[in-house]
Amino acid sequence: MKGIILAGGSGTRLAPSTDSMNKHLLAVFDKPMIYYPLSVLMLGGIKEFMIISTPADRPRFETLLGDGASLGISISYKDQSNPNGIPEALTISKEFIADDSVALILGDNIFYGQGFTTLLRNAIKNHRHATVFGYRVKDPQRFGVVEFDAYQKAISLEEKPKEPKSDFAVTGLYIYDNQAVELTKKLKPSNRGELEITDLNKEYLKRGKLDVELLGRGFAWMDAGTHESLFEASEFVKITQQRQGFKLACLEEIAYYLGYISREALYEKGKSMEKNDYGQYLLEIADRKHSEQYWDRIEKNPMLGLVK
Ligand code: G1P
Repeated sequence: MKGIILAGGSGTRLAPSTDSMNKHLLAVFDKPMIYYPLSVLMLGGIKEFMIISTPADRPRFETLLGDGASLGISISYKDQSNPNGIPEALTISKEFIADDSVALILGDNIFYGQGFTTLLRNAIKNHRHATVFGYRVKDPQRFGVVEFDAYQKAISLEEKPKEPKSDFAVTGLYIYDNQAVELTKKLKPSNRGELEITDLNKEYLKRGKLDVELLGRGFAWMDAGTHESLFEASEFVKITQQRQGFKLACLEEIAYYLGYISREALYEKGKSMEKNDYGQYLLEIADRKHSEQYWDRIEKNPMLGLVK
């Protein structure tokens, strides 16, 4: 399965912070926003990625993440020249997807919760055609909304409905079979002039090919697309990290525990940033004693015990 991160758009809701900077490079507390969705797909076991941004921003992403080799993954880049909507990411990356299936994630979506790695890995392993993830929210009219029947089977999807038929938002993480590229080509722009991911999902729903996984109340899902939500996301990350002493979305840590990079590489990366907390965290993990203690814990943990 291939991984696509959509990090384009004009970020107008975050102006003026985004007047000269791509939204997905802004920090969510102590690391760039794009680290969070990338960490999700890495934890899902995906190793080949394409990041889609704008012609002006692409070099900045390349500077940040390069070809992915330092994380033991591969990353390529493409441009979305105009904000034509989320599904366009699939046609832009059709050569990259080739005859594979694909996980598409929006660059401003943050997922966190115990069991998420297992849930995601199972969703990837068992996926039939299209899988989306539903999450209860207080303000469903801001999102794509999924309605269920009495058996929790999805029966309708609507994009930003004025009168939502349920409280379940469709999050910005989508798993598709290879048909998605062809189905996207048939989509027409909505009233806001964009192709809508909800319309693609409706095509799957119509064919009886859409599965919806629900993320329960123990999960945190946030999008960081407005000043309010960006600030809240930063607060959430800060508080969670502060309490447990684990960083969220630390790509080097994930790469290390997945066996993609060596302890030496982790140490070197930590050394290069040792003056800040992020670098010190990497050095702490690279420290054998800490690492062994942690391994002991994760090997006994069915959620994390799946790695290496
Ligand atoms: C987009 C999708 C919407 C989805 C949301 C998740 O909204 O159109 O269906 O619920 O992402 O973040 P947008 O960011 O375009 O407002």
